[in-house]
Amino acid sequence: MKKSMSNQNKSLIVRAPAKINLHLEVLGLRNDGYHELAMIMQSISLSDYIEMYPNIEGSITLQTNIDNLTIGEDNLIIKAAKMLKEISGDKSLGVKINLIKNIPIGAGLAGGSTDAAAILIGLNSLWGLNYKLEYLENISSRIGSDIPFCIQGGRQLCFGRGEVLEKVESFNSNLGVILVKDPTVQVSTPWAYNKYKELFESDYLTEEYAFERKRNLVRTSNWIKHNLNEPFSLINDLQKVVLPVTPSVQNALDIFSNIPDCVAYAMSGSGPSCFGLFRDLNMANATLNKCKDTFTQSGLTAWSCSMQSEGITTIDQ
Ligand code: C5P
Repeated sequence: MKKSMSNQNKSLIVRAPAKINLHLEVLGLRNDGYHELAMIMQSISLSDYIEMYPNIEGSITLQTNIDNLTIGEDNLIIKAAKMLKEISGDKSLGVKINLIKNIPIGAGLAGGSTDAAAILIGLNSLWGLNYKLEYLENISSRIGSDIPFCIQGGRQLCFGRGEVLEKVESFNSNLGVILVKDPTVQVSTPWAYNKYKELFESDYLTEEYAFERKRNLVRTSNWIKHNLNEPFSLINDLQKVVLPVTPSVQNALDIFSNIPDCVAYAMSGSGPSCFGLFRDLNMANATLNKCKDTFTQSGLTAWSCSMQSEGITTIDQ
């Protein structure tokens, strides 16, 4: 059925936050070749902004403020826009997209996935499609495992290949975050999972009941309620394969381990970005001021951020 474009004279700006992994465990291998995961994902304030100008000539175009990003068919933004247009069945739907990129690329922060989520939310509104969020989450998993989380964001448990979501109450959501990354280093996510498989496949769980037992451990994990006066450990299985071949990850984690006010630290996703958690944003800001030179001397760019309770948000123009 064709839908009419109710908002064709309007344009939108959409804010797309990055995520960090508070927990990432690789449980086993699935029949579809992906890995079965148990994760806790958390949106943070570091965000891309995406402007969308709809048209009824059917053209979908993308421009961006950075050079080293492909803007063709393999960009998740284009894939998301084309998928939504195809599902709508309306060939006249088009959009001019301007991406203001702040989230580093190839960093384990779901930068591409959150942009795709933003496109689905923005165009659903601009093109007058009015699909439910749950439907958008569902279709988004066709083009990337992290996109369903990015749509509603906040803090969620992510199972399956990342697309099976469970909302959790966000204890300690006022924690401050320092995020660091060597701007010259990127990690390929398929490489990280393939390497993990090569090294650890013999330890993989194979039965659904064993996966479920692991999921239950994450569901009842108390790290979020942990007494934040004491440092505590975070788990990211992919760190085991990325860290040995990525000196900037080792440097970042060494620096965080020597900061007394840092209550927990880990690599995010498939890296190489790493983060440290602090009592609140003020503490993260003060620590960043104090440690800026240390990060810079190690070649790391650093940001201080807050945790966000929502995913994609639209800003009407
Ligand atoms: O789903 P997405 O396209 O983001 O995944 C990128 C790659 O990461 C996949 O092609 C696969 O190699 C790996 N991956 C995986 N298991 C997952 C998610 C991703 O092996 N659950």
